[in-house]
Amino acid sequence: MRVAIGCDHGGVELKEGILALLGSLGLEIIDMGTGDCCSVDYPDYGAKVARAVSAGEVDKGILVCGTGIGMSIVANKFPGVRAALCHDAFTARMSRMHNDANILAIGGRVTGREVALDMVNIWLSTPFEGGRHQKRLDKISDIEKSALSV
Ligand code: RB5
Repeated sequence: MRVAIGCDHGGVELKEGILALLGSLGLEIIDMGTGDCCSVDYPDYGAKVARAVSAGEVDKGILVCGTGIGMSIVANKFPGVRAALCHDAFTARMSRMHNDANILAIGGRVTGREVALDMVNIWLSTPFEGGRHQKRLDKISDIEKSALSV
Protein backbone atom coordinates (compact mmCIF):
# COMPACT_ATOMS: atom_id res chain seq x y z
CA MET A 1 0.00 0.00 0.00
CA ARG A 2 1.29 3.46 -0.94
CA VAL A 3 0.51 6.14 1.63
CA ALA A 4 1.17 9.87 1.28
CA ILE A 5 1.47 11.99 4.41
CA GLY A 6 1.57 15.73 4.89
CA CYS A 7 1.31 18.30 7.65
CA ASP A 8 1.78 21.92 8.58
CA HIS A 9 3.72 23.25 11.57
CA GLY A 10 0.81 22.34 13.85
CA GLY A 11 1.12 18.69 12.88
CA VAL A 12 4.80 18.16 12.31
CA GLU A 13 5.52 16.57 15.69
CA LEU A 14 2.70 14.07 15.40
CA LYS A 15 3.64 13.35 11.78
CA GLU A 16 7.09 12.20 12.94
CA GLY A 17 5.43 9.63 15.20
CA ILE A 18 3.11 8.48 12.44
CA LEU A 19 6.04 8.12 10.03
CA ALA A 20 7.80 5.81 12.49
CA LEU A 21 4.64 3.71 12.79
CA LEU A 22 4.15 3.53 9.02
CA GLY A 23 7.77 2.48 8.58
CA SER A 24 7.35 -0.35 11.06
CA LEU A 25 4.29 -1.56 9.11
CA GLY A 26 6.40 -1.91 5.97
CA LEU A 27 4.27 0.45 3.89
CA GLU A 28 5.51 2.58 1.02
CA ILE A 29 5.41 6.12 2.42
CA ILE A 30 5.65 9.38 0.56
CA ASP A 31 6.32 12.27 2.95
CA MET A 32 5.14 15.48 1.30
CA GLY A 33 6.27 17.82 4.09
CA THR A 34 6.46 20.09 5.89
CA GLY A 35 9.60 19.05 7.69
CA ASP A 36 10.01 21.50 10.55
CA CYS A 37 8.13 23.78 12.93
CA CYS A 38 8.40 26.95 10.75
CA SER A 39 5.00 28.42 10.05
CA VAL A 40 3.55 27.31 6.69
CA ASP A 41 0.12 27.35 5.08
CA TYR A 42 -1.79 24.10 5.49
CA PRO A 43 -3.56 24.33 2.09
CA ASP A 44 -0.19 23.90 0.33
CA TYR A 45 0.50 20.57 2.03
CA GLY A 46 -3.09 19.36 2.10
CA ALA A 47 -3.34 19.89 -1.63
CA LYS A 48 -0.16 17.90 -2.34
CA VAL A 49 -1.47 14.82 -0.56
CA ALA A 50 -5.06 15.17 -1.79
CA ARG A 51 -3.92 15.63 -5.39
CA ALA A 52 -1.91 12.40 -5.18
CA VAL A 53 -4.90 10.50 -3.77
CA SER A 54 -7.28 12.02 -6.32
CA ALA A 55 -4.93 11.08 -9.19
CA GLY A 56 -4.55 7.51 -7.91
CA GLU A 57 -0.81 7.93 -7.38
CA VAL A 58 -1.21 6.68 -3.82
CA ASP A 59 -3.81 4.47 -2.16
CA LYS A 60 -4.37 6.58 0.92
CA GLY A 61 -3.33 9.84 2.55
CA ILE A 62 -2.85 11.12 6.07
CA LEU A 63 -2.93 14.83 6.90
CA VAL A 64 -2.12 16.53 10.17
CA CYS A 65 -2.55 20.19 11.08
CA GLY A 66 -3.33 21.85 14.41
CA THR A 67 -6.98 20.86 14.49
CA GLY A 68 -7.25 18.68 11.36
CA ILE A 69 -10.05 20.98 10.21
CA GLY A 70 -8.15 23.01 7.63
CA MET A 71 -6.56 19.92 6.11
CA SER A 72 -9.89 18.13 5.78
CA ILE A 73 -11.50 21.19 4.16
CA VAL A 74 -8.72 21.43 1.58
CA ALA A 75 -8.56 17.72 0.85
CA ASN A 76 -12.30 17.44 0.23
CA LYS A 77 -12.02 19.94 -2.66
CA PHE A 78 -10.35 17.24 -4.78
CA PRO A 79 -12.43 14.88 -6.92
CA GLY A 80 -12.77 11.42 -5.46
CA VAL A 81 -11.28 12.40 -2.13
CA ARG A 82 -13.17 11.40 1.00
CA ALA A 83 -11.22 13.00 3.82
CA ALA A 84 -12.38 12.22 7.36
CA LEU A 85 -11.39 14.25 10.39
CA CYS A 86 -11.25 11.67 13.17
CA HIS A 87 -10.69 12.00 16.88
CA ASP A 88 -10.65 8.49 18.25
CA ALA A 89 -10.60 4.80 17.35
CA PHE A 90 -14.36 4.70 16.76
CA THR A 91 -14.47 7.57 14.26
CA ALA A 92 -11.36 6.23 12.50
CA ARG A 93 -12.94 2.76 12.16
CA MET A 94 -16.31 4.08 11.02
CA SER A 95 -14.71 6.40 8.46
CA ARG A 96 -13.37 3.29 6.74
CA MET A 97 -16.32 0.94 7.26
CA HIS A 98 -19.08 3.34 6.25
CA ASN A 99 -17.39 6.16 4.32
CA ASP A 100 -14.46 4.42 2.62
CA ALA A 101 -12.38 7.44 3.65
CA ASN A 102 -9.20 7.67 1.60
CA ILE A 103 -7.65 10.46 3.65
CA LEU A 104 -7.39 10.53 7.43
CA ALA A 105 -7.13 14.02 8.94
CA ILE A 106 -5.90 14.42 12.50
CA GLY A 107 -5.45 17.42 14.78
CA GLY A 108 -1.91 17.44 16.13
CA ARG A 109 -2.94 19.90 18.86
CA VAL A 110 -6.10 17.98 19.69
CA THR A 111 -5.32 14.28 19.65
CA GLY A 112 -2.64 12.73 21.85
CA ARG A 113 0.14 10.73 20.22
CA GLU A 114 -0.92 7.27 21.43
CA VAL A 115 -4.56 7.80 20.47
CA ALA A 116 -3.46 9.09 17.07
CA LEU A 117 -1.19 6.10 16.40
CA ASP A 118 -3.97 3.74 17.41
CA MET A 119 -6.30 5.57 15.00
CA VAL A 120 -3.82 5.29 12.14
CA ASN A 121 -3.35 1.56 12.76
CA ILE A 122 -7.09 0.97 12.80
CA TRP A 123 -7.76 3.24 9.82
CA LEU A 124 -5.18 1.50 7.63
CA SER A 125 -6.39 -1.99 8.44
CA THR A 126 -10.18 -1.57 8.42
CA PRO A 127 -11.93 -2.47 5.14
CA PHE A 128 -14.91 -0.68 3.61
CA GLU A 129 -18.16 -2.56 4.28
CA GLY A 130 -19.73 -1.81 0.89
CA GLY A 131 -23.39 -2.80 0.56
CA ARG A 132 -25.78 -0.01 1.50
CA HIS A 133 -22.83 2.30 2.09
CA GLN A 134 -21.69 2.02 -1.52
CA LYS A 135 -25.03 3.43 -2.67
CA ARG A 136 -24.43 6.47 -0.47
CA LEU A 137 -20.91 6.98 -1.78
CA ASP A 138 -22.32 6.79 -5.32
CA LYS A 139 -24.65 9.64 -4.37
CA ILE A 140 -21.69 11.67 -3.14
CA SER A 141 -19.93 11.05 -6.48
CA ASP A 142 -23.03 12.23 -8.34
CA ILE A 143 -23.21 15.37 -6.20
CA GLU A 144 -19.52 16.02 -6.82
CA LYS A 145 -19.99 15.67 -10.60
CA SER A 146 -22.99 17.99 -10.64
CA ALA A 147 -21.18 20.58 -8.46
CA LEU A 148 -18.14 20.52 -10.75
CA SER A 149 -20.26 21.03 -13.87
CA VAL A 150 -21.95 24.21 -12.57
C1 RB5 B 1 -2.12 26.83 12.17
O1 RB5 B 1 -1.90 27.73 13.18
C2 RB5 B 1 -3.51 26.23 12.26
O2 RB5 B 1 -4.45 27.19 11.88
C3 RB5 B 1 -3.62 24.99 11.41
O3 RB5 B 1 -2.68 24.06 11.82
C4 RB5 B 1 -4.94 24.25 11.43
O4 RB5 B 1 -5.37 24.02 12.72
C5 RB5 B 1 -5.97 24.78 10.54
O5 RB5 B 1 -7.08 24.23 10.42
